[in-house]
Amino acid sequence: MTWSPNSWRAKNAKHIPNDYPSLEALQQVEATLSKKPPLVVASEIEKLKKELAKVARGESFLLQGGDCAESFSEFEADRVIRYFRVFLQMAVVLTFAGGKHVVKVGRVAGQFAKPRSSPTETIDGVTLPSYRGDNINGLEFNEESRLPDPQRLLQAYNQSASTMNLLRALATGGYADLAHINDWNLNFIKRQDKVQEDYLKLCHHISESLDFINSMGKANIATDTVSFFTSHEALLLGYEEALTRKDSLFGSGGYYATSAHMLWIGDRTRGLDDAHIEYCRGVKNPIGIKCGPSLTGDELLALIDRVNPTNEEGKLVLIARFGSDKIANHLPEMVRKVTAAGKNVIWSSDPMHGNTITSSNGFKTRPFDRVMSEVVQFMNIVHAEGAYPGGIHLEMTGDDVTECIGGAIEVTEDLLPSRYNTHCDPRLNASQSLELAFEIAGNLRTERKEQRMAAAGL
Ligand code: PEP
Ligand code: CO
Repeated sequence: MTWSPNSWRAKNAKHIPNDYPSLEALQQVEATLSKKPPLVVASEIEKLKKELAKVARGESFLLQGGDCAESFSEFEADRVIRYFRVFLQMAVVLTFAGGKHVVKVGRVAGQFAKPRSSPTETIDGVTLPSYRGDNINGLEFNEESRLPDPQRLLQAYNQSASTMNLLRALATGGYADLAHINDWNLNFIKRQDKVQEDYLKLCHHISESLDFINSMGKANIATDTVSFFTSHEALLLGYEEALTRKDSLFGSGGYYATSAHMLWIGDRTRGLDDAHIEYCRGVKNPIGIKCGPSLTGDELLALIDRVNPTNEEGKLVLIARFGSDKIANHLPEMVRKVTAAGKNVIWSSDPMHGNTITSSNGFKTRPFDRVMSEVVQFMNIVHAEGAYPGGIHLEMTGDDVTECIGGAIEVTEDLLPSRYNTHCDPRLNASQSLELAFEIAGNLRTERKEQRMAAAGL
């Protein structure tokens, strides 16, 4: 089966718009994009794969998260900074309370296109095409806005580039220095609750430990930069194709998607012989596959063989997204089959997409306790099957939004309208994100203790 960056075009392509008013205009934009600088380079992608290989071996933990959909109108530096800050705080909790190195992969700098459950939306008797993400059409409910516009692809590329630029600066320019951990709290702690208190305690311990190390004259440990990678759903394959580059700088010679370090395939577009699998099987990036209730263990094995035929470590992330009420029926058999087949994969949990409900006042929301329950069940199931629960995939923001109900600072249904800002699915707010990180850290710590006891023959 020969592959090329455009071999997906001969396949069945789901959820890619085919109603652009002018195909020629779309092709022109794709030609322009194909000459743009890559957003990431092959050596970074290979570095991520090496880090993910450690996750596959149980040595690290993958934290992946960000907006459901980035938007043009909400784009501002402060939002990116607040997002990055809570992401770092979660990583600190997982590293120091959970005892694992954390591989940090944002759902950011390119997460625009959305598969939708219905192609149309009806409001007050008016039916229009659904909103499909800012790189396709507009959220505003009128005919003009809902028409796909190829210029939006260029705007998405430009916004991704400037987001990426800021994230690189934050990751390596000193902001992420652990020695400044207390500064990350500024403007953050408005209310005192258990999560924030636990977090402040943890920061205090870390600062004390760093002081201790410094006082021993070992001040050279590098705490001042972090590795931060980007990812998004590979939905708009025309855009991905235009940013696919054959590596010439790093000697590997293969093709890389240079729109992000990692791409994933959504639950609605993972047909074995369909376009999205075809595109993703040919690029050397790490690839995520969303695994929902309609996927069988045997189908998953076929997908694994198609996307990672050489069983490369750190290449495949299986993202379980069943729902707290379904995971126990589906995941055990899947983990058993994949493990028995000797496949190198990372098991990660997306506790968001199977737990969406409509509140009594009409908001699409997610109960925090269901999110938490799916994560805990995920960790227990994967562990019980003798594999490693290696990651988490979240829709989250650094802002104090009211989109998911529950959590330590309880968001009630009545509060939902007050700060419901998402362009698509409801996200965890900063406090809920940290609370979840503590819960996972607790689980990781228990697992580490068991490993140590086993190693000591106890
Ligand atoms: C998503 O991650 O935004 C998404 C649409 O998820 P899924 O493909 O799992 O439904
Ligand atoms: Co979503």
